[in-house]
Amino acid sequence: MAQKQTAILVKEFNVEEPQAAIDICTDVPVKTPADGEVRVRLTCRPVDPADVLSLQGHYPPMCQELPTVPGIEGVGFVESVGSGAGKKFSKGARVVGTPFPLHLKNGGTWQQYINVKEDELFAVPQSVDDEQAAQFYINPMSVRGMLDTLDIPRGEWLLQSAAGSNLGRMMIQMAKIFGIRTIGVIRREEQKKELLEAGADEVLVASGESDGEDIAARVKEITKDQGAYGAIDAVAGVMTQRLLAAVRPKGTLLVYGLMSGLTFSGSILDVLIELKVITGFHIDKWKQSCGREKHQKLLKEVMDMFAEGKVTGVVGETFPLESVAEAVQATTKAGKKGKVLLKD
Ligand SMILES: NC(=O)c1ccc[n+]([C@@H]2O[C@H](COP(=O)([O-])OP(=O)(O)OC[C@H]3O[C@@H](n4cnc5c(N)ncnc54)[C@H](OP(=O)(O)O)[C@@H]3O)[C@@H](O)[C@H]2O)c1
Repeated sequence: MAQKQTAILVKEFNVEEPQAAIDICTDVPVKTPADGEVRVRLTCRPVDPADVLSLQGHYPPMCQELPTVPGIEGVGFVESVGSGAGKKFSKGARVVGTPFPLHLKNGGTWQQYINVKEDELFAVPQSVDDEQAAQFYINPMSVRGMLDTLDIPRGEWLLQSAAGSNLGRMMIQMAKIFGIRTIGVIRREEQKKELLEAGADEVLVASGESDGEDIAARVKEITKDQGAYGAIDAVAGVMTQRLLAAVRPKGTLLVYGLMSGLTFSGSILDVLIELKVITGFHIDKWKQSCGREKHQKLLKEVMDMFAEGKVTGVVGETFPLESVAEAVQATTKAGKKGKVLLKD
């Protein structure tokens, strides 16, 4: 009898209640790996903000064809090897995707098994546990990609919004490795001490329209009138304008998230007179522009940082795969503590 698995299916998007977009199916057939593919038994995967966007139908790379299985990243072990595969990984090897959702026809990681070309997997060292490995790709590689894009010299300042996010904390850790100083913007005062202890050089409390600290004035003071060398923004809306005002002339701001909605604002004068640049960062586009050789080199560099414990993700609530609706709700809660994981 054909082997069956549990898989989370999205048949229809739901903007208001993303958790309602989910169907749990326990009798999805497990496919035989095609030529060059291995079958990975997934053991842990995160619920990323991009997954929530995909349940809402707001994230194009994930939602071209329905029904689909969501899940961009995760960790597992090679369970069986298809014909023509097995040169790089044999049965039992622990692997992550780089990332997984390129395989839309096989679905994402919110299922027990996934078939993947072995060339698109990356080995996980023993010292990296499942909870860290599950969140190895999207956030840390985006941090590495944004540092690569901004090319900030040692000693210069990076300004970031949502600095208390999982990605923001990884940015604090990785920037330190490269000798870059960080100014984080957060919306909750109680996170300030925690982020300073985690290595942020300066932390400002500000959110929304114009409340909290004057970001541009404080950054001017901190950087001795120079402005931040570059900035990254996951919040958008008016936050983009407030960060751009704090960037040096000709500096670049990368918008990489849409925590406050689908639009952002900015001053024309910052662009016209100060020649500041606002552009987007997306991990898939960056991966494409990188080329395979450089991407593989940076994957190794970042995995080494994980293996040495220099870069880590904060682990939040953990749910079994079947409790995915609760996991999605936990992910969208303000003030949550760390990355929500689905384990089995
Ligand atoms: N473009 C790319 O390629 C790419 C790649 C990876 C990640 N991302 C984006 O990076 C962001 C962070 O991801 P993550 O996994 O680190 O998320 P996360 O750990 O869930 O953190 C989300 C953070 O956003 C803050 N936040 C939420 N809504 C906000 C608002 N309206 N104003 C200000 N802050 C707000 C939260 O603050 P509280 O702690 O106060 O709740 C929290 O610190 C997400 O937007 C994600 O989509 C983009």
